[in-house]
Amino acid sequence: MLKPVNRKWWHDKIAYQIYPKSFLDANGDGIGDLEGIISKLDYLKSLGIDIIWLSPIYKSPFVDQGYDISDYYAIAEEFGTMEEFDLLLAEAEKRDMHIIMDLVINHCSDKHEWFQKALMDPYGEYADYFYFRKGRDGNPPSNLRSYFGGSCWEPVPGTDMYYFHMFAKEQPDLNWENPKLRSELYKMVNWWLEKGLAGFRVDAIINIKKDLSFPDFEPDGPDGLAHCWKMVDSVDGVGDLLQDLKRNTFSKYDSFTVGEVFNMHEGELENFIGDEGHFSTIFDFSAQCMDEGINGWYDIPPVDFRLWRQTVANSQLEVQKHGFEANIIENHDEPRGVSRFLPEYARTPDGTKMLGTVSVLLRGIPFIYQGQEIGMQNAVWNSIDEFDDINTKDQYSIALQAGLSDEAALAACAAMSRDNARTPMQWSSDPNAGFTSGTPWLKVNSNYPAINVSLQETDPSSVLNYYRRLITLRKSPEFREVFTYGEFAPVYMDTDSIMAYYRVNDSQRMLIAANFGSEAAEIKLEYPVKRVVLGNMSNDPAGGACAEASYAGTESADFSGETLKLSSCEVAVIECEI
Ligand code: GLC
Ligand code: CA
Repeated sequence: MLKPVNRKWWHDKIAYQIYPKSFLDANGDGIGDLEGIISKLDYLKSLGIDIIWLSPIYKSPFVDQGYDISDYYAIAEEFGTMEEFDLLLAEAEKRDMHIIMDLVINHCSDKHEWFQKALMDPYGEYADYFYFRKGRDGNPPSNLRSYFGGSCWEPVPGTDMYYFHMFAKEQPDLNWENPKLRSELYKMVNWWLEKGLAGFRVDAIINIKKDLSFPDFEPDGPDGLAHCWKMVDSVDGVGDLLQDLKRNTFSKYDSFTVGEVFNMHEGELENFIGDEGHFSTIFDFSAQCMDEGINGWYDIPPVDFRLWRQTVANSQLEVQKHGFEANIIENHDEPRGVSRFLPEYARTPDGTKMLGTVSVLLRGIPFIYQGQEIGMQNAVWNSIDEFDDINTKDQYSIALQAGLSDEAALAACAAMSRDNARTPMQWSSDPNAGFTSGTPWLKVNSNYPAINVSLQETDPSSVLNYYRRLITLRKSPEFREVFTYGEFAPVYMDTDSIMAYYRVNDSQRMLIAANFGSEAAEIKLEYPVKRVVLGNMSNDPAGGACAEASYAGTESADFSGETLKLSSCEVAVIECEI
């Protein structure tokens, strides 16, 4: 039995991540914008979305696509104006939807006024907003390697000092030990919350605690450097900073916050997502981290179904003891879930619906990434020049240095690149997928004539209309309670191809069962069936009643007595006797 839950307004919500640059371009400059987002609020509402997370829209030089902020109080010109942002807030509110923004406060841009002032006066007040340290005999202060490659230390021109950056050199890390800096950040956070934001997705936040002695670590690569997460791993005390942040900002507004947290220390989950947790929730990245290559993208093994199933189940079982996590199959930093987690034979509309079902009905807050709801897939990449992403370029050179051929290095990037998720949203079969009337900033996936919103709108059996039914089911008065608070219990874990679990409370038992195999499979049911509430292979077009986005009616599923037969890539959601 789970411990009783202190109910929160966001527990039963469905979230959607927008990557503004690639969502919809309203003015033809090839870059998505706020006007584009506003014009699609009704679309998102029709999908059942409650919370919209906007990746950064602040003023930025875009070295790391807006995750390098040069003015926290301004909207990037590329995206529009503050008036348009206010309009977005108002239009969302009208539709009973909540907006959350990205909060990037581990670092800012090197073009931010604070950093510019620090450079001008490297011993002055603003230098202490960052980590300026003396080098060691003309070398950097320590041997840490940044997340995007190369040293974490960059020389401060005209001095014998270096500044610290865990991401690109254009993203200097902010000194959270400085109370003045902290209060500047809190003021900014509160300014946005006052405007009516519902909360934030909090970027790279585990990195804010540094070991101020900046020691060397055991080198772990041919460059003689050590990965900077080793420092994050070795240092305590991030919790104090996070509680300080929360106390001074989020908790005053009952905000919804979702942390991007990797490398949490063991046993700390309760501190992050428990009742007094640092955040409302954090992302569950266990499936994404499962296949991290030791040396880089080039040595990542293909996803193993059994390992993936076990990873998801273990995470759910652990998380539900403490609170809620946010469940994803993809985001702007990951390849597309369909291309990653499904074997080739399953990268079809049926397989896509199956993956969506097992993900969305997990315990936690579903976060759908733009395009996931139509089954967008990784693009075909023909040359390294087609990529924009800074991380991809680094991984490409790591692969070449490791001795891979150009072709093999490109293949590794094609499979893992963050740009797979950043290609423009596929709205229609019009040129550039209807994303822009101009030249898109990143190439459009060539499969857009087959996979796009407008085609799927008119097809009752499309992935899009299936997602609508799936979300409607999750939020329906009848099943909302069990899908929100019901316990997660994995089942049939010893089969070769079935991913299945129950969501169960005192009065209802739901079975979600999916066959990821290439052949049909049978399971023996443990409880009598009341009815099938959703299936991805219904032949009955009314079963796909998209117009009313209804899940009603008995879906077809193949029963005989107590066995359930599932075709390859079939999923069924079944209400069982309790
Ligand atoms: C987070 C973001 C990623 C960004 C990094 C640095 O991981 O999701 O896109 O590059 O932080 O801000
Ligand atoms: Ca535009």
